[in-house]
Amino acid sequence: MNAPIDVSAVTLRTERLTLRPWRETDLQDLYEYARVDGVGQMAGWTPHRDIGESREILDMFIREKKTFALEYEGKAVGSLGIEMYNEKLYPELDALRGREIGYVLSKDYWGRGLMPEAVRAAIGYLFDDVKLDFILVGHFDWNRQSARVIEKCGFRYIRTVPFETTFGKTENSVDSILYCPGR
Ligand SMILES: CC(C)(COP(=O)(O)OP(=O)(O)OC[C@H]1O[C@@H](n2cnc3c(N)ncnc32)[C@H](O)[C@@H]1OP(=O)(O)O)[C@@H](O)C(=O)NCCC(=O)NCCS
Repeated sequence: MNAPIDVSAVTLRTERLTLRPWRETDLQDLYEYARVDGVGQMAGWTPHRDIGESREILDMFIREKKTFALEYEGKAVGSLGIEMYNEKLYPELDALRGREIGYVLSKDYWGRGLMPEAVRAAIGYLFDDVKLDFILVGHFDWNRQSARVIEKCGFRYIRTVPFETTFGKTENSVDSILYCPGR
């Protein structure tokens, strides 16, 4: 089952990153990376057309309290969301508490191992503080970059399921799971 989440008062620090709630003042940083072609599409959404679209997404991040901003050298360079997973696809997980993570990083910062670092911090928080039993994560079958993050963070393949993007295309989502150690 999906467990409740509220990251609005949570800050996690890693060697290079701060994971913290999104703020009104992050608007320009969000637009800067979300407008770039070829980034959002890998996660199922289209590049932001204008800053108004980024404003709406930022408002949603703040309102829904489930998405971290990834701050690097004083700038918001990505996001990591603790999303609701589709319980209908995973009836065998009904008795356990879990969520699904999703993430995106500004193209300017790819290839430095920043997202694995952020995901490891999120895993620690979700197991140690939120007391989840499992974390799901998925990537489109062609998204090798995300597949590598998932492999490096120790997730194991569980199932391939259909996923509808915000632009109406159905993709194959390769889903992986990580159970809380000791379970
Ligand atoms: C997936 C993503 C978050 C990875 O973040 P990252 O911090 O760059 O992760 P890593 O540094 O560990 O790199 C992961 C892989 O990307 C590839 N990669 C690295 N730099 C790259 C670049 N500039 N261009 C293309 N691929 C690159 C490498 O294959 C690397 O694997 P390796 O470490 O085995 O060489 C990032 O690519 C991204 O934001 N993509 C767009 C959104 C997305 O795919 N979100 C996930 C949806 S499931």
